[in-house]
This record gives sequence, C-alpha cells and structure tokens, in this order.
Amino acid sequence: MPKGKVAVVTGAGKGIGADIAKELGRLGAKVVVVDIDLKSASDVAAGLAATGGEAFGAQANVADPVQVKGVFAAAVEKFGQVDILVNNAGITRDALLIRMREEDWDAVLAVNLKSAFLCTQEAARIMSKRRYGRIINISSVVGQMGNIGQANYCASKAGLIGLTYSNARELARRQVTVNAVAPGFIETDMTRALPEKVREELAAQIPLGTLGQVKDVTNAVVFLAGENSGYITGQVLAVNGGMYM
Ligand code: NAI
Repeated sequence: MPKGKVAVVTGAGKGIGADIAKELGRLGAKVVVVDIDLKSASDVAAGLAATGGEAFGAQANVADPVQVKGVFAAAVEKFGQVDILVNNAGITRDALLIRMREEDWDAVLAVNLKSAFLCTQEAARIMSKRRYGRIINISSVVGQMGNIGQANYCASKAGLIGLTYSNARELARRQVTVNAVAPGFIETDMTRALPEKVREELAAQIPLGTLGQVKDVTNAVVFLAGENSGYITGQVLAVNGGMYM
C-alpha cells in the first residue's frame, strides 16, 4: 500500500499514466501529476483532491532538465519527499526506417528515454538520503521484440530496460528499487481506433486472446510501487497476455 507515500507520475494527464496516478491516489499516496499539458494534469489532480486525496498538477516537458528539476523541487516543497517515481510519459513518431526523419528519432528518444534518466537522477538524490524508493519505468513489449515502423520507439523502450538494470544496481545499496513494466497491446484510444480486422489480427498474436486493459498495467505498477515488492529490483514485469515470453 502506498499510503502516505509521495508519488511522481509523468505523462499522467491521460491514458495509462492518469490511471496509475488515480489509483496511487485512491490508495492514499500524495501524487504529483506531471504532464506537458497543464490542463489535463490539473484535471486529474483536481479529481483526486475532490475525493479526499492530496495531489497537484505540474506542467513540464520531461525531456527538459530545467523543467524536471522544477517538478522535483515543487514536490519536495509541497510534500517534503518523493518515494515513488513512475516514468510513464511516452510518444510515438512512427515511420519505416528508410523514411524516418532524424527529428523523429531525436524527439522519441528524448521524451521516452532521456526523460527517465533526468527524472531518475532527481528522484535518486531525494530517495538515497531517506534510503527508500520505488522507481518504475514503463517500457513496452516492442522494446523486447522490435516492431516494423518503430525503430525509434523500440530503441527507446529497449533503452529503458538497460537503464532499469543499471539504475537498479547503482541504487540498491540505498534501498531504492528500480523495475520496468513492459505492457503488450493495451486497449487505449489508439488501439480502439483501429479497424476491427486489425484488432482481431492483434488479438490472434496474444496467447490469452484479447488486448490488455489499462487496469492490467496499473495493477503491476501499483504492486512494484508498494511495500510488498521491496526484494524485487532490476526486473521487467511483462503485462502482455503471453505475447512475448
Ligand atoms: P497517451 O498518449 O495516452 O498519454 C501520454 C501522456 O504523456 C499524455 O498526457 C501526454 O501529454 C504526455 N506527454 C507526452 N510528451 C510529454 C512530455 N515531453 N513531457 C511530459 N508529458 C508528456 O499514452 P498511453 O497510451 O497512456 O501510454 C503511456 C505509456 O505506456 C507510454 O510510455 C507508452 O509508450 C507506454 N505503452 C503504451 C501502450 C499502449 O498500448 N497504449 C503499450 C505499451 C507501452
């Protein structure tokens, strides 16, 4: 249970990140809802506050070191500490390799991977002093398998796994755990917009036979963010219906 803990969740204005932020808040964590879009971050935070939780929305581009520093300074100022960091913010800029533009490579690597380096660096400074921390990086099954048209995205998500291993080794002596969650195909606006035939083809690749739900990802993150996972570090928890094993 993350009760009383302080959680920073990036990309939490909508989608999977918003669900993680809401669930951590429901379980009693104080939540810093970080998003590049202030309105959506503030709405999620206001929703938490309306149900008796403590939360605030913070606008930041998590690929920008100055803005990231600002988020963690605000978290400490408001809540005194940071115990949980969920590096969830992510974007896609898909194209076949031979057509992929350099700026699409750079943007995806910056938002998906550099952001986790920057946020973890800030969080680690705070967590190390208190000898407690839970850091969870949201990777993807395609970081483990590859995917056509997603060289930048797959490289960023595979990079997050290497970052997880390295940070887990470095921070273990401070009792800070670092793990990754690697979702498979999850029912989101993006996948709901696909034609029924494409969705059927996707489901056919999944041993459990259906796409995952946002809740499936949230449940894995909440477990890794809680007290009962203290002896787990440097792991990649796949939430993919058996699609990759
Ligand atoms: P989404 O697109 O619904 O939400 C992403 C959020 O991140 C948005 O609120 C957006 O404003 C924010 N964001 C984007 N760039 C940002 C930046 N530079 N700084 C701060 N915030 C920024 O995404 P979704 O589907 O909820 O995915 C969340 C994470 O899960 C991503 O890392 C994604 O790669 C990963 N994932 C998603 C899967 C899926 O099926 N939806 C499958 C596997 C992994």
